[in-house]
Amino acid sequence: MSEPISIIVLGITGDLARRKIIPALYQMIAQKKLDKFLLFGAALEDMSTDEILDRAKEFITDSDPAVWQKLKDNFFYQRLNFKRIDDFKKLEKFVSKKEKEHQFSGNRLVYLAASAEFYCEITENLAASKLVTKLPSKGTIWQRIVYEKPFGHNLQSALEINACIKPLFNESQIYRIDHYLTKELVSNITLIRFTNCIFEPLWNFQYIDNVQIILSEEIDIGNRGPYYDKYGVLADVVQNHMLELMALVAMEQPKQLTGEYIRDQRAKVLEKINILGGSVGQYDSYQKAPGVQKGSQTSTFVQLKAEINNHRWSGVPFYLKTGKCLDKKETKIHIKFKQVECLFLVADKCPIESNYLTIEITPEAAFTLTLNAKKPGMTNEVIPVKMEFCHSCIFGQVTSAEDYVVLLGEIINGEQSVSVRFDEIESTWKIIDKVNTMNLPFHKYKCGSSGPKEAKNFEKKHGMRWLS
Ligand code: BG6
Repeated sequence: MSEPISIIVLGITGDLARRKIIPALYQMIAQKKLDKFLLFGAALEDMSTDEILDRAKEFITDSDPAVWQKLKDNFFYQRLNFKRIDDFKKLEKFVSKKEKEHQFSGNRLVYLAASAEFYCEITENLAASKLVTKLPSKGTIWQRIVYEKPFGHNLQSALEINACIKPLFNESQIYRIDHYLTKELVSNITLIRFTNCIFEPLWNFQYIDNVQIILSEEIDIGNRGPYYDKYGVLADVVQNHMLELMALVAMEQPKQLTGEYIRDQRAKVLEKINILGGSVGQYDSYQKAPGVQKGSQTSTFVQLKAEINNHRWSGVPFYLKTGKCLDKKETKIHIKFKQVECLFLVADKCPIESNYLTIEITPEAAFTLTLNAKKPGMTNEVIPVKMEFCHSCIFGQVTSAEDYVVLLGEIINGEQSVSVRFDEIESTWKIIDKVNTMNLPFHKYKCGSSGPKEAKNFEKKHGMRWLS
């Protein structure tokens, strides 16, 4: 059971709250991870609490009336303009009054489900209205602010936001989050790497040929046109999810598998990443989406070749590929090991396939090691076989809201490894800013395809083959 807590969601009428935050709160109540709570939503729209909750219903699969009722009973909504201090003061008064009535101690989690361009102003208003107070990390009560990714839209804007919020609150109160870091198989990457002695000796340039990180999505940009057209694929998922995955795969062993130790190691990798080339694309119907500018050159697809300038990864290419409106939804990391020397006399049996370790994050959660084995019978034929750890087969399917259930749970517990430290953000924006100056070839692609046809040239050019 959780301690009493006020959860304040700014931007509760938006897509993120509807798809992720409200369904996650519902799941937390159902799983008894959230018991004594008050939920305060605020946004510009004139909406009732019922309307807001009803819009989130389609993202909740196992609707239990008792859980739903509990969520409803504890939910309050107030109209608020992010720019108006008086609105924040009014909200603070209301939150304090309700907390007093319910004898809550003042633990507050404020979630900014808003665009990064408002982060500075909102944070100043949170401080000035005392909705959040600057508190030491080990006090009796805690108050934390959650900033969704992307934190800024380039290095300059991220530096400005950070300079604005830093003096107002202690770092222990600031959570710049990335929901990928709470995905079951993502948190498993470090655990599997560092708790099994079989991987570490092989985890370097001597044995690894290349690493591929693929985040493929079937969905288009939906009604997120105004946001997406400004940010594009690089800021939407590469700057955060994909580079953080890369850092987790490549980092050195932390002293402990928690907070600062993991963040230190991730940061060391991120500052050594260099992008060597790539190409970008846009799906054919993109410009018809509401909120997208005619003639927009915003990319919805990208493939990149990267390197990490340190001893462990010397000469090992990291390939990154992601896009919207592709033929499948999947997030996978393939670690391709080097080929062994061929010991067969007959040339047609050579070369033997490499071993692969595949970390599947979605749609299934699994680890698969592809090995070579002998085909049964009187033959020397070699066939690939798979050794698999299927997470859902053993532990059951996770709900789509699970990332945010874990995320909110970790923030409530004060676990900072789910939050990205600013030095990590600085390095990742430097990478993206550089890619934006590279004038990568731009090609259109058909929605539902595997990407631009011309993207095949990338495989040829770099002598690689995308795995799936
Ligand atoms: C979000 C991006 O951060 O991640 C979306 O803004 C993207 O554009 C989403 O669709 C992908 O997350 P998931 O958990 O569905 O793989």
